Amino acid sequence: MANKITINWDKIQDIIEHYNSNPENLLMIMQDITNLYNYVPPEAIPLLKKKLNVKESLIYSVATFYKTISLEPRGKHIIHVCTGTACHILGAVKIMDAYKEELNIKEGQTTEDGLFSLEGVRCIGCCASGPVITVDKEIHGGLDRSKALNILELYKRSSERGEVERG
Ligand code: FES
Repeated sequence: MANKITINWDKIQDIIEHYNSNPENLLMIMQDITNLYNYVPPEAIPLLKKKLNVKESLIYSVATFYKTISLEPRGKHIIHVCTGTACHILGAVKIMDAYKEELNIKEGQTTEDGLFSLEGVRCIGCCASGPVITVDKEIHGGLDRSKALNILELYKRSSERGEVERG
């Protein structure tokens, strides 16, 4: 499980105010909070409810519907394996299986050390380069099992050296 974070309430307030506390911007606000912490801390839900005057159920609906948003802590690096049709045909299942085995987690889970989360996503618009993954915001295409595991190794090593930081 990923480590617990300390919430910077001023930053969350700033995000809400940046969107004029407009409930129509709920998705954007949740996305910006996700950019800060890799997830929307459930502790922030009462503040979102109050400031945006939205129902808690709407916040949960957004988190459920949009794969980029989670109310669960996620890893430092998020691996998205594209499971769209083109990538599926080109071997996305093998890539997903390689990561599941190597990281010893299922899709949607985070490694014990909090370093990686593994998620499936629908088409990310690079079908000709499939199978495709993203790690954080970086796209890697034309993968086979060994290339996919090499990428993982690079992130592990960089992380050990403290070189790969989220933007
Ligand atoms: S199906 Fe994977 S990028 Fe389009």
